[in-house]
Amino acid sequence: MLKLAIFGSGSGTNCQAIIDAIEAGTLHAQITCVLSDVEDAYILERARKHNIPAIHFDCAPFKTKLDGEAEQNVLQILAEHDANFIALAGFMRIVKDGLLNAFAGRMINIHPSLLPSFPGLDGGKKAFDYGVKFTGCTVHFVDAGVDTGAVINQKIIAVEDGDSFESMMEKLHAQEHIAYPEALQWIAESRINFAGRRITLK
Ligand code: GAR
Repeated sequence: MLKLAIFGSGSGTNCQAIIDAIEAGTLHAQITCVLSDVEDAYILERARKHNIPAIHFDCAPFKTKLDGEAEQNVLQILAEHDANFIALAGFMRIVKDGLLNAFAGRMINIHPSLLPSFPGLDGGKKAFDYGVKFTGCTVHFVDAGVDTGAVINQKIIAVEDGDSFESMMEKLHAQEHIAYPEALQWIAESRINFAGRRITLK
């Protein structure tokens, strides 16, 4: 059984899509906890509304990464909640070795571009500014690089002449909300390999 910990820093619409898919019975998983580095992030409120433990953790003194004592604290929270898989959903910090090694092959992310194009921050904006005619989203395994892990699922959208950045992102987010639960269900069914091997849930 996938026992998910979902990490996010913002509004949590992807987390909501995962919650909805579980409640609709199309995703066979449970969410053990939702974690955020941002105290008032709406993702935490979404979790509370569904009686899912919602936990804020402090990343200080680091601004862009989860490391050191904060990472140890997060590992303890994950153990306390018996999480065996991590879904990053709009989590805006770089995950470092301690968490990566503890969840090797058991951590995935969603990114708002067709990787390997436009990795890193603001992938959607970078693609729009570049003038791409097609873009989309990618669900991928997390490795030590920035958005470099093996691709699990992608969805494509067309960027029409009349599209603004906002209207493009609206279409993109709608596809993210399909792609993420779908990818998780494939993993729940052990249909995805990571670096040529099966994922073993603890
Ligand atoms: C999503 O578009 C996701 O692809 C992006 O943040 C948004 C979170 O939205 N992630 C990244 O840019 C990661 N580098 P949400 O909080 O509504 O799910």
